[in-house]
Amino acid sequence: MPPLGFGAVLAKAAAAGEEDGDGGEERTKIFLLALLVLLCTTHHVVGAEDDLNVNITILESATAQGAVCLDGSPPAYHLHRGHGTGLDNWIIYLDGGGWCESIPECLYRTTTYLGSTRKMGQQGFFSGILHNTSKENPEFHNWNRVRVKYCDGSSFTGDVEQVNPENKLYFRGARIFKAIMEDLRSKGMKNAENAILSGTSAGGLATILNCDKFKCILPENARVKCVADASFFINGKSIYGTSYTQEMYHNIVNLHESAKNLPLACTSAMEPSLCFFPENVIPYIQTPLFVINSIYDSWQINNTLVPPYLDTQHAWKGCIKSIGSCTSSQLIIIQAFGVEFLKTFEGLPPCFTRGYFLTSCYSHGGIRLTSHWFNTSSPRLFNKTIAEAVADWYFERAEIQYIDPYPCVRNCTQ
Ligand SMILES: *[C@@H]1O[C@H](CO)[C@@H](O)[C@H](O)[C@H]1NC(C)=O
Ligand SMILES: *[C@@H]1O[C@H](CO)[C@@H](O)[C@H](O)[C@H]1NC(C)=O
Ligand SMILES: *[C@@H]1O[C@H](CO)[C@@H](O)[C@H](O)[C@H]1NC(C)=O
Ligand SMILES: *[C@@H]1O[C@H](CO)[C@@H](O)[C@H](O)[C@H]1NC(C)=O
Ligand SMILES: *[C@@H]1O[C@H](CO)[C@@H](O)[C@H](O)[C@H]1NC(C)=O
Repeated sequence: MPPLGFGAVLAKAAAAGEEDGDGGEERTKIFLLALLVLLCTTHHVVGAEDDLNVNITILESATAQGAVCLDGSPPAYHLHRGHGTGLDNWIIYLDGGGWCESIPECLYRTTTYLGSTRKMGQQGFFSGILHNTSKENPEFHNWNRVRVKYCDGSSFTGDVEQVNPENKLYFRGARIFKAIMEDLRSKGMKNAENAILSGTSAGGLATILNCDKFKCILPENARVKCVADASFFINGKSIYGTSYTQEMYHNIVNLHESAKNLPLACTSAMEPSLCFFPENVIPYIQTPLFVINSIYDSWQINNTLVPPYLDTQHAWKGCIKSIGSCTSSQLIIIQAFGVEFLKTFEGLPPCFTRGYFLTSCYSHGGIRLTSHWFNTSSPRLFNKTIAEAVADWYFERAEIQYIDPYPCVRNCTQ
C-alpha cells in the first residue's frame, strides 16, 4: 500500500461526498466505503462470437487534401453495406487506441496500424454494434455500418499544415474525419434518414468532439445522434496527487494544434485543452449524446488514478491486472475513484436528450464486442443490455438513463 497515496485518496473520498467536511462525517463515509468493499463479490463469464470480416477501403484521394495518417499514408475505413429497411441508415464507428502526445510517441505509432495504413490489416473485424445479424445486433444489423481506422493519434482533432522535414510527421486528424465523412456522403450517407456516430475510448472521445460536425454534414431532417463508449475520461488526480490526463491532453492539443477544431463555444470559455475533457465539453454539444462508461473504468484506474510509471514499487500491478487480487485498502481507493467519477458525471448540466449507461464493471468499453453489446453475458442494467438501452434511447421508446445499482467495482464479461 503506497504510504503517501492512501492518505491523499482518503481525503479525496471524503471530499467527494458532501461539501461540509466535518471530521466525524468523513470517518463515517470512509467506513461506509470500506464496508461496501467487504460486501463485494465478483463473478466471471466468457464471451464468443460469429465472425464477420470486412475488406479495407483506402481513401487514396484524401491525400490531395492532406488528410493523411501520421506517416503520410492515406486514411482508411471498412464499410459493410446495409439493406432493406436499413438502406438509408448509417452507423459510423470510430476505432480507439489512445493518443500520442510527443514526437517520439507519434514516431513510434508510424511503425504500427495506429499511425500508418501500411501497417493495417486487409480485413476489419465486425461484431457487436457493427455485426450484421439480428442475433448479435438486433436493431442496427441491416444499417450501413462503417468502422473508421484511427491513425492520427489525436482523436481526429489535429490539423498542422507544416510537416517537419526531420521527423516527417503529419498531424491531420481533423482532416481525416472530414475526408472520410465526405467520401461516405458520396456513397449514400448524404441521403441518410438515420445516423449514429459512435466509438470506444479515444474513438468515443472523437465521437463527442466531432458530434456536432457530424450532425452538420447530414440532411437536416435526419435523426442524428452520438454514442460515446468508454470515453468519459474525468480530470481526476492520481494517488500521488498528479494530473496525468490533464498534462497529456494539454500536450496533445499543443502538438496536434487541435484547439481550432474543438467546439468553439467551449474553447472560448476555457483553456482549449480542457475541452478535451467530456465533463467540460459535453455541456456545449447540441446533438443528442448517449454515454456508456464504467464508473470504475479500468483504463482510468490504470492511468488517471495509478499511472504505472509512478508505481515504481509495483504495489498496484496485480490489482490493476485483476481486480480480484486487490488488497482491501486498494479497493477503498478504487471505490473512492468511483465516487468521484459519479460526482463528475452528475455535475453535468441536466439535458433531457442525454442517455447513459454506467456500469460497475472493471472494464474499458466494448460496444464492438458481442459479449458486451448484446448477449446473455453482457452487462445488464434494469435487465437491459447496452444494445437495448441504446436502441430505446435512439428511437425514443423508453427510459434512457441507467446507473448500476451495484455499489462496488466488479468483474463482468471480457
Ligand atoms: C453469447 O456468448 C456466448 C459465449 O459466452 C456464445 O456461446 C453465444 O453464442 C452468444 N450468444 C449470442 C446470442 O450471440
Ligand atoms: C476482400 O479482399 C480479398 C483479398 O483481396 C478478395 O479476395 C475478396 O474478394 C474481397 N471481398 C470482397 C467482399 O470484396
Ligand atoms: C452478413 O454478412 C456476410 C458477409 O457479407 C454475409 O455472408 C451474410 O449473409 C450476412 N448475414 C446477414 C444476416 O445479412
Ligand atoms: C496499464 O497501463 C500500462 C502502461 O500503459 C500498460 O502497460 C498495462 O498493460 C496496463 N494494464 C492494464 C491491466 O490495462
Ligand atoms: C430480463 O430480460 C430477459 C430477456 O430479455 C427476459 O427473458 C427476462 O424475463 C427478464 N427478467 C425480468 C426479471 O424482467
